[in-house]
Amino acid sequence: MTSPTTQAAHNSFGFKPGDSSGPQLQPEPGPEPLPADAVVDLAEVRRESGVDEVLAQLDTELVGLTPVKTRIAEIAALLLVDKLRARFGITAPQPTLHMCFTGNPGTGKTTVALRMAELLHRLGYLRRGHLVSVTRDDLVGEYVGHTAPKTKDVIKRAMGGVLFIDEAYYLYKIENERDYGSESIEILLQVMENNRDDLVVILAGYADKMDRFFSANPGMQSRIAHHITFPDYTVDELQQIAALMTGQLGYRLSDDAQVALHEYLQRRIHQPWFANARSVRNAMERARLRHARRLMADPQPLVGLEQLTTIEASELRASRVFDDQSEAAGT
Ligand SMILES: Nc1ncnc2c1ncn2[C@@H]1O[C@H](COP(=O)(O)OP(=O)(O)OP(=O)(O)O)[C@@H](O)[C@H]1O
Ligand SMILES: [Mg+2]
Repeated sequence: MTSPTTQAAHNSFGFKPGDSSGPQLQPEPGPEPLPADAVVDLAEVRRESGVDEVLAQLDTELVGLTPVKTRIAEIAALLLVDKLRARFGITAPQPTLHMCFTGNPGTGKTTVALRMAELLHRLGYLRRGHLVSVTRDDLVGEYVGHTAPKTKDVIKRAMGGVLFIDEAYYLYKIENERDYGSESIEILLQVMENNRDDLVVILAGYADKMDRFFSANPGMQSRIAHHITFPDYTVDELQQIAALMTGQLGYRLSDDAQVALHEYLQRRIHQPWFANARSVRNAMERARLRHARRLMADPQPLVGLEQLTTIEASELRASRVFDDQSEAAGT
């Protein structure tokens, strides 16, 4: 069972709020508060923060994910408004920003966590804005006495940024009360409470396992301010993701290849080990290989930009994804 944190907890772990190197962000020893009848230019504050650029970049570089983007924009707005309130001398504690990202493989959880770290840094919430990504093995030791130093070391590295715990539910083994994972959870819980202005913890994983994890660890559940769900992508979204990825690599899909890709995706999403955008990335990498092989095998060795950058339908249709379907249809 998890226990609530105690006042002295941060001393025992040596992570006092804002005690790491670097400038202190809170409380801001700013200028005199503005008079009550003053007004501030919201547009200017937005410009100065650079938040709109990050949000616009997020929008162009990530396809779909509307609910996720909306929540991020809300968090950005909250932090900006908090900054303005502080100028008038209203000092409220920083909001808690620990989060939980649930979604199937390849739905963008890790990618968004990276962006979140950058955004929170721009908004002055995080000192450093880096992301430390870990799993159970980085936090939990195999022998008595190994877990606490391991967990503390990870936390130290993450201070001032985001600690991203992938498949967080593996920290807790329901069938084994004496598992060292609970020791790690205990430490995390205390740090999440006492150092919340200097560390954002993002737990990630699949929804059903995460639900079970929270039921067994209510202390963790209560410290998470934002539960964000990453939906599976539609075939059209996957197609847009493919276009984005190939564009970034300096390729384009011919019209026939677009059609082939659509069929490919319609089949792929029902097959085993489908991993949303990651499957698209893998498919594009294989298409790229076949494209290179086709060019090398061509008896006509004169190639121009067009040939070097265009992926044709055959590069997709050669995939096993199409075989499997015909085999299944034949049985
Ligand atoms: N909406 C999107 N638009 C464009 N590319 C995306 C999008 N979502 C994910 N990707 C790309 O797909 C790949 C997988 O994404 P990511 O690693 O963030 O998924 P994940 O949810 O963390 O997966 P897992 O649960 O397996 O860890 C990355 O290369 C990422 O850039
Ligand atoms: Mg991930």
